[in-house]
Amino acid sequence: MSAKVHFLLEDLLVEAPEGTPLQRIADAAGADITFGCRTGSCGTCRVRVVEGLAHCSDMGTEERDFLRGLEAPPDQRLACQVIIHGDVAIDYLGL
Ligand code: FES
Repeated sequence: MSAKVHFLLEDLLVEAPEGTPLQRIADAAGADITFGCRTGSCGTCRVRVVEGLAHCSDMGTEERDFLRGLEAPPDQRLACQVIIHGDVAIDYLGL
């Protein structure tokens, strides 16, 4: 099964196998998301999941702690930490 990933900022729609990390999809698609640490600790890859939050992997401790520190709402995720399991629409926020 494949998932459709819509990068809203540049209106870029791509497909990837379910279970693919979002950072790999973004890199392959040339999506305009800036990555720094790629380990969930810098926040430069912060996105808002506009659609399909339920199709994203659960948060790990590092991501949860980081976003909690920003008081980010639950639809915000770190693109370097998310694995995509279905269709999503992504808006890039950055730090
Ligand atoms: S690239 Fe640093 S938190 Fe994602």
